Amino acid sequence: MLTRGKHLAAHLGLSRQVRYERCDATHPDGLQSLSPPPDLVVVSGFYETLTDDAAVCRSLLDLRAILPAGGTLLLTTQVWHPWLALAANVLPDRHGKPWIISVRSLARMERWVREAGFCHRQSHMEPHGWHAVIECTG
Ligand SMILES: C[S@@+](CC[C@H](N)C(=O)[O-])C[C@H]1O[C@@H](n2cnc3c(N)ncnc32)[C@H](O)[C@@H]1O
Repeated sequence: MLTRGKHLAAHLGLSRQVRYERCDATHPDGLQSLSPPPDLVVVSGFYETLTDDAAVCRSLLDLRAILPAGGTLLLTTQVWHPWLALAANVLPDRHGKPWIISVRSLARMERWVREAGFCHRQSHMEPHGWHAVIECTG
């Protein structure tokens, strides 16, 4: 995934602006070691994999701590999905366990980003009403 990202950045002429590094997104040390800190953070499809609400809130606080003032946080949330039962009962996750997709309402995610200290700018729900992107600034 990181290699594909690097190739894409090179293809778009963005190699100097975009950096790819491997780190544990749930661990504050990994995030704090990023130098210079990112001014754009994209959390895509990740919080949906975390079943522990407290872990999501901790992650938001960690991101708030590294994002410079004026920086942007974009995150996704899943409000519902027609495959929730199928995934949980049939499909394995990457650890071979039942794949639990954590669905959370837009209102709850927007409250959590505010509680973490972000300024919520706007949210975009796609036409099916399943997935949303939330935009915030630090
Ligand atoms: C559902 S995929 C989303 C992939 C991609 N971001 C997207 O939007 O299509 C979840 C991703 O989170 C990554 N992931 C899971 N736990 C992680 C962690 N602790 N730190 C960093 N990445 C993690 C997985 O490797 C996987 O690529």
